[in-house]
Amino acid sequence: MIKMKNLTLGYKKEKILKDLDLEIEDGEFIGIIGPSGAGKSTLLMSIVGSIKVFDGKFKVLGYDLEDIKKKDLIKLREQIGFVFQGYCLVDRLSVLDNVISGMLKDIPMPRAVIKYYKDKELKKAQEVIDVVDIAKHTTKRCDELSGGQRQRVAIARALISKPKIILADEPVSALDVKSAQKVMDIFRKVNKSFGVTIIINLHHLEYAKEYCDRIIGVNNGTVVFDGRSSELTDKLIEKIYATPKN
Ligand SMILES: Nc1ncnc2c1ncn2[C@@H]1O[C@H](COP(=O)(O)OP(=O)(O)O)[C@@H](O)[C@H]1O
Ligand SMILES: [Mg+2]
Repeated sequence: MIKMKNLTLGYKKEKILKDLDLEIEDGEFIGIIGPSGAGKSTLLMSIVGSIKVFDGKFKVLGYDLEDIKKKDLIKLREQIGFVFQGYCLVDRLSVLDNVISGMLKDIPMPRAVIKYYKDKELKKAQEVIDVVDIAKHTTKRCDELSGGQRQRVAIARALISKPKIILADEPVSALDVKSAQKVMDIFRKVNKSFGVTIIINLHHLEYAKEYCDRIIGVNNGTVVFDGRSSELTDKLIEKIYATPKN
């Protein structure tokens, strides 16, 4: 579903990620770890075609990202959900409205503005609201929720458009341990019960070890580890988090 071959990615003239050789299969649960500035966010954003390809081959869901047309880019992005650290919900809107905003492309603008939703749209929303276990807060405004609850709303919003892949950039970094675990439990459920491929950038190594089936360690723009968490030795962890020598 994702294939990178000798891939170099970056911004304008600056190459950030070099010589990537990665294959990601349907249904995987992957954690990307590494020090700040390593290139984790760049790697994640590249999957939705937001990062410049300098060299190599890059295929996502059947599309070649080296020279993708705008029309195809839109189609690709429709199949991928995104969850950020900073939530990106609309504070003054209810949980329900925020979740439904994830499928606005299917709802005509006038109806969206007056918040007139059809029964089948409400049913879809209710389903994903149940998945993230936030049903008792459906009518609350998002600014009344805790950080963990907001992040679960963000997952529901990503989920409602039935994505093949969900990308999450440090979704639990700002949360306390209990809330973070609950959010990670939901990512696991979305992966195991619905088969959605999940790729998460994680600040905490512990969560990557506990939840992810496969870990990709990035340091200074290169992949220095790619394997199962059980294969992560202290030495490898040191290598992943090492300060690059210039
Ligand atoms: N929009 C941008 N334009 C230019 N360089 C950027 C941009 N965003 C990030 N970078 C650079 O790319 C490198 C990797 O950043 P990033 O992917 O954000 O790392 P991480 O998520 O691992 O902290 C850093 O050197 C950073 O300065
Ligand atoms: Mg980042």
